Amino acid sequence: MERDPGDFGQLRIAPSVLSADFGLLAEQVGEVSRAADWLHVDVMDGHFVPNVTIGPPVVASLRRHSSLYFDCHLMMTEPGKYLEAFAKAGADGCTVHVEIGGTSELIAQMRELGLRVGLALNPDTPFEAVQPYLGEVDLVLCMTVFPGFGGQRFIADVMGKVEQVRSAIQAGGFQVDVEVDGGIDTTTAPIAARAGANVFVAGNAVFGAERSWEAAESIRSAAHAALR
Ligand code: DX5
Ligand code: ZN
Repeated sequence: MERDPGDFGQLRIAPSVLSADFGLLAEQVGEVSRAADWLHVDVMDGHFVPNVTIGPPVVASLRRHSSLYFDCHLMMTEPGKYLEAFAKAGADGCTVHVEIGGTSELIAQMRELGLRVGLALNPDTPFEAVQPYLGEVDLVLCMTVFPGFGGQRFIADVMGKVEQVRSAIQAGGFQVDVEVDGGIDTTTAPIAARAGANVFVAGNAVFGAERSWEAAESIRSAAHAALR
């Protein structure tokens, strides 16, 4: 079944399951889906980042409980080995990091598998690293923390790059979403929205709240008021 990712550039809230209670995953995803557009799934391999999280079996399990669009963020050194498994497990979009290289091949592989294609940049990776691929991807993810852990502080310095990405997309007439991930809450989402982001990943600010769906709705309202 095809799940609709929504129109390019549209405001979207993507709660990150990284901050959910993994013992209550289906239940918590069900609750947050009232206010979520996408579900952000953080995959960490212990090599690209110093942490290990979840893989295709968990995506497959969640798929049976949720009809949300699954936005899988692959913080992996060798995502190419696992893309097919993620696609089969029910991932809708996969995002790989530009720092690992082999980007053109990975983009081709994701397209071949019918995945929506994302390219992520760490906070210290320059805009130029993603620039050549803007015509080939569906999403650019500008990390606003160094990947590896939830609950870190938003790095506002990344906003210059978000502006560069958005301007280049507009200038080139490309259909690309701009996602921010890390330290996003009701204070930082508007800052990122003004810089040109339209997809907001939030882990701690959503699942750390008593009512995750209300927290997600608050972030949506805050971002909406500031969206370019
Ligand atoms: C960080 C992950 C993020 C993380 C965000 O490595 O890529 O998606 O879950 O969590 P918060 O919103 O808590 O910073
Ligand atoms: Zn992420």
